[in-house]
Amino acid sequence: MHSGSPLRRDDSPASATVTVWGPATLSNLGPGFDALGLCISGWGDVVEAWRETEPGVRIEIGERALDWRAPTDPARNTAAVAAQAVLRTLGATEGMALRIRKGIPPGSGVGSSAASAVAGAWAANLLFGAPLDKAALVDPVLEGEAVAAGSRHGDNVLPALFGGLILVSSNDPMRSRRISLPRALPMAVILPNVQVLTRQARAILPKHVPLDDAVHNASELAFMIDAFHAGDWETVGRCIMADVLVEPVRAKLLPCYDAVRSAAMEAGALGCALSGSGPAMFAVAETRAAAEHVRDAMVSASRSAGIEARGIATEVNDEGVQSI
Ligand code: HSE
Repeated sequence: MHSGSPLRRDDSPASATVTVWGPATLSNLGPGFDALGLCISGWGDVVEAWRETEPGVRIEIGERALDWRAPTDPARNTAAVAAQAVLRTLGATEGMALRIRKGIPPGSGVGSSAASAVAGAWAANLLFGAPLDKAALVDPVLEGEAVAAGSRHGDNVLPALFGGLILVSSNDPMRSRRISLPRALPMAVILPNVQVLTRQARAILPKHVPLDDAVHNASELAFMIDAFHAGDWETVGRCIMADVLVEPVRAKLLPCYDAVRSAAMEAGALGCALSGSGPAMFAVAETRAAAEHVRDAMVSASRSAGIEARGIATEVNDEGVQSI
């Protein structure tokens, strides 16, 4: 891989350019640390890509992504690493270029690195005739995620790849399973304007936990999965607030955490929690209108606590990564 000279638009014949949407994802969802993730609509990264004769992956980073300090070194950029892994899988003798337009800031908690990784992998696959199905892209996207997060956790990249609500295993090779939802799941998601790097937010977690706490989390996760199947959002909401292993440790990284959570519940949310390692927080609600109201309350609470924030009311994205 190499970064090379800046790419010009006219380096890429329009007919040979693919444009891919890598969606944002919520992960953990309370007690499902590293085990559960959900693809959402509304936020994501865009990757344009075209083939080049020189082998490897060349990248161009959009201005906004540069402001957000997205990695410009292809060896550390999740889109480039995932794309390179696809080229390796295909045994490609030619290379490709990627132009990355970030819509999600790195360190936001809604799967910024995963959105780029899946978009890079999907773009590489499309450019070489789409010989791989999504299942064959699991390893490449995990490889991409690992350069950003320092671990091959799949609870952002796999929902971003497949869409929907995805359970993932912690062993290698990673297993995953989609959980069908019987009805729409209205959600509010906010991004407080602070950066929490996943690598650091993982480093502060305890290496050993009391057995009682592990049992508590396992039980809450089991009830939550059953409630997702049943479309019982009230139970889902209660369960997402029940994590005793991870979220209490990470909440300390986010000064507006308590205020946002209280505001969401007072505004009628069924539950509210961190997404991934934060600072993003999400809430579930019974209706779209309720989710919009909850979003406004969460954004206001963050601002009142001195942290600028933006938010959306959203729903599940069942498609995952796709060309646009
Ligand atoms: N499961 C991961 C974590 C997600 O919580 O560290 C990171 O976005």
